[in-house]
Amino acid sequence: MNQPVAPAAIAESAWKAVGVSRPHESAELHVLGQATYTDDIPELQGTLHAALGLSSKAHARITAMDLAPVRSAPGVVAVYTAEDIVGTNDCGPIIHDDPILSAGEVLYVGQPIFVVVADTHDNARRAARRAVIAYDELPAIFTPQEAKAANSYVLPPMQLTRGDYQTAFDMAPRVVKGQLFVGGQEQFYLEGQIAYAIPKEDNGLLVQCSTQHPSEMQHVVAHAIGVHSHKVQVECRRMGGGFGGKESQSALWAASAGIAASKLRRPVKLRADRDDDMLVTGKRHCFFYEYEVGYDDNGKILAAKVDMTLRAGFSADLSGPVATRAVCHFDNTYYLSDVDIRAGCGKTNTQSNTAFRGFGGPQGAIAIEYIVDEIARNLGRDALDIRRLNFYGTTERNVTPYGQEIVDNVIEALTAELEQTSEYRARRKAIEAYNASSPVLKKGLALTPLKFGIAFNVTHLNQAGALVHVYVDGSVLVNHGGTEMGQGINTKVLQVVAHELGLDLSHVRITATDTSKVANTSATAASTGADLNGKAAQDAARQIRERLAAYAVKLYGDDDGQPVRFFDNHVHVNGHKVLFAELVQKAYLARVQLWSDGFYATPNLHWNPKTMNGHPFSYYAYGAAVSEVVVDTLTGEWKLLRADALYDAGRSLNPAIDIGQVEGAFIQGMGWLTTEQLWWNAAGKLMTHAPSTYKIPGISDCPEDFRVKLFDNGNVEDSIHRSKAVGEPPLLLPFSVFFAIRDAISAVGGHRVNPPLNAPATSEEILRAVSAVEMAA
Ligand code: MTE
Ligand code: HPA
Ligand code: MOS
Repeated sequence: MNQPVAPAAIAESAWKAVGVSRPHESAELHVLGQATYTDDIPELQGTLHAALGLSSKAHARITAMDLAPVRSAPGVVAVYTAEDIVGTNDCGPIIHDDPILSAGEVLYVGQPIFVVVADTHDNARRAARRAVIAYDELPAIFTPQEAKAANSYVLPPMQLTRGDYQTAFDMAPRVVKGQLFVGGQEQFYLEGQIAYAIPKEDNGLLVQCSTQHPSEMQHVVAHAIGVHSHKVQVECRRMGGGFGGKESQSALWAASAGIAASKLRRPVKLRADRDDDMLVTGKRHCFFYEYEVGYDDNGKILAAKVDMTLRAGFSADLSGPVATRAVCHFDNTYYLSDVDIRAGCGKTNTQSNTAFRGFGGPQGAIAIEYIVDEIARNLGRDALDIRRLNFYGTTERNVTPYGQEIVDNVIEALTAELEQTSEYRARRKAIEAYNASSPVLKKGLALTPLKFGIAFNVTHLNQAGALVHVYVDGSVLVNHGGTEMGQGINTKVLQVVAHELGLDLSHVRITATDTSKVANTSATAASTGADLNGKAAQDAARQIRERLAAYAVKLYGDDDGQPVRFFDNHVHVNGHKVLFAELVQKAYLARVQLWSDGFYATPNLHWNPKTMNGHPFSYYAYGAAVSEVVVDTLTGEWKLLRADALYDAGRSLNPAIDIGQVEGAFIQGMGWLTTEQLWWNAAGKLMTHAPSTYKIPGISDCPEDFRVKLFDNGNVEDSIHRSKAVGEPPLLLPFSVFFAIRDAISAVGGHRVNPPLNAPATSEEILRAVSAVEMAA
C-alpha cells in the first residue's frame, strides 16, 4: 500500500473519532447479557462464600456474643470477628473512624460485627442470622436536627464568608427566613456491592471488586491483612452502576472477602443481598437548612446566610469533601456579594453517608433555589425573572464566594435559548388559564439553572495515568485508571486513543481497570473520569504516534517538514499512504517502542480548606431545564407532562452518550426530590431497604415529552478536545420538577403563599403543603 498517493478514502478534514455519536463500547455485550460483571467471573474450584453478621441496635455496647450456633450451621467453614483482623481494622477513606467489623460498640443498625464463610452463598446468609448477641443499649441520635442540637459532629463545622453579611442583611429592605429539609437517597446501583478475593502465592491476593476506586481497595485490603500494597492486586472490568456508592464503600466488602481469603487461602466471594446492601452502606446525605436572606424590591439578593446540617452517619467517610462541595455550590448560578455559609457534618447512629452523584453540590444549590423561588413569590414575579436578575455576570459580579473568578459563564445565553425553545412564556400563560378553571388539578411550571464546578475539590486527586499498547498486528489495547460504571468512560477514552492514532474504533480495546497496570489512581468520581483519563491516554497515544511518525519519516522521507498525518487507518507521509498496521510491523522489526504510559495532572488548581478559598475547579459546566407538572391537590398524585433540558457538555466527545447521561441524571434526580424516601423506625432501623418500599422512578415516570439537547459551547479550558464533564451536573436539572410541583401547589392559594415543601415531595408531603397553603390563604 506504500505507493504514491491515491486519493484518501476519507478526507483528513472529514475524519474524526471524537465528537461523534457512537454506541457504548460494551452495548452489544450488555444487550446480549454477555458483559462480565464481578459475579459472572467463573468461580475457581474451592470458592467459598461469605456473609456479614449485622448489628440489630443503633447504639450499644456488645456485652456477650455467642457465635457457636453460627459455627455449627450447615456448610460453615469459618467465622471471623474484629479480633481476627491481623492488620488494621479500618476502611475509612480519609479519617480512620470506620471499623471493618465492630470492636465492641455498635453505632447503627446494620453495622457489620462478624464475617461468616460457608460453602454456599445461601448457607453463609442463613448462618449469619444464628448469632446470639447481647447488647447494653446507649442513647442514639438519628436526625441532623438532633445532631445539631446535641453538638454531635464527625468533623469540625465549616464556614465560608465574604463581605459583611450582617450589615448587608440589616440594611436590606426585604428579608426571607426559613427552614428546609431535603432527604437523602439510596444509590440503587443495579449490581450490588460485591468482592471476590483470590489468594495468590506468598500471601498475595487478587481482588475482583465492583468499585469506582481500585487503588483505595488495594490500600484497605493490604492494611487489613497486614501486607504491602504490592501484594494486593485489584481488578474491576465494569460495574453495574456506582453513582458514588462504590467510591469508598466498596471497601467493607473488599476487606471482608480479603480477610477471609487471606486466612483460609481459598477464594472467597462476598456478594451483598439488596436488603443488606441498603442496611449497611451509606447514601446521599440528607440536609437540614436554616436560612436568612436579604433582598431589594426588585428581587436582587443583598445578603445570604445559610446553616446546613448534613446527616453524616456514624463516621466521617467522605462527608468532609461532600460538605465542602455543598458550601461551594450554594451560590449555584447567582452572584452573592455578602454571605455566611456554614455546614456541619452531624454525627448520627445511621449508615455512614457517602458520595452520590453531585456529591453535595445538588444539596448546596437547592437551598438557594428554594430561597429565590420564595423571593419571586413574595414579589409576585415570575421566578425566572428573579433568577436572571441574580445571575453571575461575565466581567463583573463574577467571583464566587470562595474566590474563584468565573471566566466561562454562559448561563444567560443558555437560559435564553431554553426559554425560547421550551416556549416558557406562552406555557406560563396557558397554565394560568388552565388553573383558573381547574379547582382540583393544578399545573405548575419552573425553569431552573445550574452551574457545577469540575475537579475533585481535594486538589491532589486531580491526576490520572494510562498505558497504551500497540501490538504488532496494529491492534491497540488501552488501560487507564478510570472505571466503567455504565457512564461510557471506556468509549470516550477509546475514541480519544483512536483519534490520536487515526484508527477506527474497532481497532482499539480497553481492558479492565487493574492496580497492577496503572498505580495510585484516583476514584472515578467528581465527573472527572473522561477528563483526566482521556488526557492521560491521549498523552500515551501521542508518544507512540510521535515515535511512529519519526520512523515513517526515516522510511519515506520528509516532505519539507510537513507533519506525518494519521487518519482513516493509514499513515500519510511524504506522498505515501501506508496502512497503520503495516507501519507498525516495520517499526517493530526496527525496534521502535510500540507502547507507552501517559500521565495528566489538571493545572492551576489550589484550595485552602481553612479559609475555604482558592481555585478548586478547573471549569464550570452549565445547564437549565423547564418542567411542567400537573398535581392532583386532593390526592397528592402528580405527573411530569413535559421536560426540556439544555446541557453544556462543551464540545461533546460523544453526544449520544452525553445525552444518555443527561436523561439518566434527570430522572435519577427527580426520584431523589419526589418519590425516594428513606425511612427509619423509632429504633433506628432503615425500613425502606428494598424496592418494595423504596420507590425509584420507573419507565412510566419518565415524561412522555422529554427534549434533551446539548448546548454548543467549547470549553475555554484546554480540556480533552474541549469537552466538558457530564456525569453529575445534570442531576440538578430536575430541580425544575420540584419547583414546578411547588408552583402547582402555590396555585391553590393564588400564588400568595409560599408552600412549605420539603424534599422528597411525596404525595403525603404535597398534601401537607397544600393544607398549609389553604390554611394560610
Ligand atoms: N452513569 C451510569 N450509567 N452509572 C453510574 O454509576 N455514576 C455517576 C456518573 N454517571 C454513574 C453514571 C457519577 S456519581 C459520576 S462521578 C460519574 O458518572 C463518573 O464517571 P465520569 O467521571 O467518567 O463521568
Ligand atoms: N467528588 C467526588 N469525590 C471526591 C471529591 C469530589 O468533589 N472530592 C474528594 N473526593
Ligand atoms: Mo460521583 S458521586 O463523584 O462518584
